[in-house]
Amino acid sequence: MTEFSTESLPIVNRILKQYPEGKQKSALLPLLHIAQAENQGWLSAETMDYVASLLKIQPIEVYEVASFYSMFNLQPVGNCVIEVCQTGPCWLNGAEELLAYFTDRLGIKAGETTPDGKFTLKTVECLAACGNAPVIQVGTEYFENVSKMKAEELLNKWQLENKISHTNPYL
Ligand code: FES
Repeated sequence: MTEFSTESLPIVNRILKQYPEGKQKSALLPLLHIAQAENQGWLSAETMDYVASLLKIQPIEVYEVASFYSMFNLQPVGNCVIEVCQTGPCWLNGAEELLAYFTDRLGIKAGETTPDGKFTLKTVECLAACGNAPVIQVGTEYFENVSKMKAEELLNKWQLENKISHTNPYL
């Protein structure tokens, strides 16, 4: 992706206008979310360079941010990215079993994508919903108190509808 779509450009410009002249770097996170959605769910070097040029900052400043947050993918991903929280409260409440279930059902380990390109499995740190552990995130949706039965129900649904998790959160 080397340019925002005509659909996203007005949103990008609106976001940029929220910051005083010279402080556009502050728009980096929202712009990266949009860029990732428009680049099939991941941020290529080309995409990050484009965002850097738009914000008039160095590409390294974009790489630093994109590589820090787990919500940004720096490698190609499947249509539906399943993020399983593995931090303490979720781990104690069944995240390990959930991860084992997804690994077994999809035939992939965390960090991998199914050969048909439909699913990527990831482990992430606290999703800030510990009170309802275990928690998984798919795109902008949170699923809390996820039992193995619930995971199976969700996976069947996502498989049927060919779920795409990388949607522009500002549209
Ligand atoms: Fe999983 Fe906080 S530990 S949401």
